Amino acid sequence: MFSPPDTDSATRSTDQDALHARLSASRLGYIPDPWAALFLSRPQGVQNRPGLINVGTWLRTRSVDLLVEEFIARVEGGGKVQVLSVGAGSDTRFWRLATGPLKDRLAKYIEVDFPEITSSKARSIWKHARLKVVLGACKLDAGGTALHSEVYHLLPFDLRQPPAALGALLNLDAALPTLLLAECVLPYMPPEAGGALLHWATAGLGLGGERVPVGVVLYEMFGLGDAFGGVMRENLAARGVSIPGTLPSLHALQERFEAAGYTQSSALTLQDIRTHYVPRSETERVATLELIDEYEELDLVLRHYAVAWASKGLAGEGEGEWGLRKAGEGEES
Ligand SMILES: C[S@@+](CC[C@H](N)C(=O)[O-])C[C@H]1O[C@@H](n2cnc3c(N)ncnc32)[C@H](O)[C@@H]1O
Repeated sequence: MFSPPDTDSATRSTDQDALHARLSASRLGYIPDPWAALFLSRPQGVQNRPGLINVGTWLRTRSVDLLVEEFIARVEGGGKVQVLSVGAGSDTRFWRLATGPLKDRLAKYIEVDFPEITSSKARSIWKHARLKVVLGACKLDAGGTALHSEVYHLLPFDLRQPPAALGALLNLDAALPTLLLAECVLPYMPPEAGGALLHWATAGLGLGGERVPVGVVLYEMFGLGDAFGGVMRENLAARGVSIPGTLPSLHALQERFEAAGYTQSSALTLQDIRTHYVPRSETERVATLELIDEYEELDLVLRHYAVAWASKGLAGEGEGEWGLRKAGEGEES
């Protein structure tokens, strides 16, 4: 019997790319990530990535980590937050946070992805005591595609469905500040679906009434109308991966936030971040890790990826806003 090709499986395969990149960057000392290898059945079979991929992984992981930490730190009175990571794939950020100084600030950390991805992640968690012990008591659900513990929840959901359907699954707390994370996810979805998700967060997360504060952190490729973008699209298309949700410019990323009701927003390329937002001591440390000789190519790649963040109702908006700090602002440059 004819069965249509599963076009989503190509999209899902991008999670392995991200996981392999994280493993490579952590092995080589770019980022601390003792958890990544636990999500692979044969981590020893994964080769390290080229230097420019490692640098990109370092910059995006470091930037998103800093934004998450600062969002939590800004919540008044040292209160708790809930984090919703969409298209989370095999991301390890929960384990890094839950074993770090901010662990008591997490009320809920929910990860959402396709069921094929969540069931594989749930199996890894179940198999590795090191992952499971961080969760405390936990149980599998929905035929092994979901997993629940007191703080951490893993749920299957196709993000192209209306966000109201997602909200109905989440059991979020209307009283808590909420941070939405979408790391390299929205480009794989139709632009309307990404916009609807961003708007749903500012419009009250389906909890009735506008609730604040809410923040969002994105990482994604953009500006693919040039020769570099053409090659990237062709390479992805050869694997069956399409990226209908990519935006043409940094400005468009901020406009999307504004259209979705955020009152503060920023977007930086990884190249901006590398040049102006990393303390010199950290840049010097990373320069010793491996020899990078393709600097022109590195610049080109980094100029096509952005970290972007936006908020509504977060303390300090308009003053010292939530965001990445330039090197030299309050730290060694
Ligand atoms: C490039 S990976 C990124 C994974 C993770 N956020 C990270 O940064 O390592 C993209 C992820 O988005 C997920 N994804 C893409 N479209 C999705 C959709 N419509 N519904 C649920 N998940 C989706 C994929 O399955 C994959 O895990």
